[in-house]
Amino acid sequence: MKLPFICGNWKMYKTVADAVKYVKEFRSLVKDITDVEIVLAPTFTALHAAFEAARNSNIAISAQDLYWEREGAFTGEVSAAMIREAGAEYVIVGHSERRTFFGETDTSVNRKALAAYAAGLTPIVCIGETLDQRERSETFDVLDRQIKAGLDGLTTEQMGLLVLAYEPVWAIGTGRNATPAQAAEAHAHIRQRLRQWFGAEAAAQCHVIYGGSVKPDNIRDLVTQPDVDGALVGGASLDLRGFFEIVSRSRPAAV
Ligand code: 13P
Repeated sequence: MKLPFICGNWKMYKTVADAVKYVKEFRSLVKDITDVEIVLAPTFTALHAAFEAARNSNIAISAQDLYWEREGAFTGEVSAAMIREAGAEYVIVGHSERRTFFGETDTSVNRKALAAYAAGLTPIVCIGETLDQRERSETFDVLDRQIKAGLDGLTTEQMGLLVLAYEPVWAIGTGRNATPAQAAEAHAHIRQRLRQWFGAEAAAQCHVIYGGSVKPDNIRDLVTQPDVDGALVGGASLDLRGFFEIVSRSRPAAV
């Protein structure tokens, strides 16, 4: 059975010491939750320490970015194999902050997603429209382009493992989440395209999760929408009690 997938993206917050403290406390809070896939995405520097603190628990670790080359003269970059060695199972690819501030494109997203799989990591690929694009009724076109180019060349098997995060840019860090109806509409469209382009089985297996101002008080309405398989949580994941609430309210039994 496909379990809800909830990932806390810490962005550029939390030192190594903060991360270890959080994970140690959080793992005891969530220890009995077996019906949600729980993932935390610390910064690169805290990745290995967070993994060690989460060892033998039900919490998996994700990086927030990678570079597609295996090794080489690429100052400042970190490869998929290095991330895997540090203990991560997942890596976020193409977050809108990387697209906006660091020049990420659908082409680089594609190279990164393929490199992640090649090293045994599962990518969490982010897509989503800006406010301008939504207001010009371009949402579906933007999503189609990001899916087609970003996921080009993935095998059916890789598609089945994929986590695809729909994060409308206007909802990220703004406190203005997509309404459950808006999320449902976008997710239905995405799932339909995945079916069309990658086949029914891969489309059904793949997690399509929502991100953008997810909080304890809106998670339930979002995660109960058809085709919403979980959430990518930014700000609200920094507080472990709040994130625990989000995880708890995502449980199939709770919804
Ligand atoms: P917020 O939850 O802070 O809006 O951030 C969403 C996000 O970007 C998760 O990757």
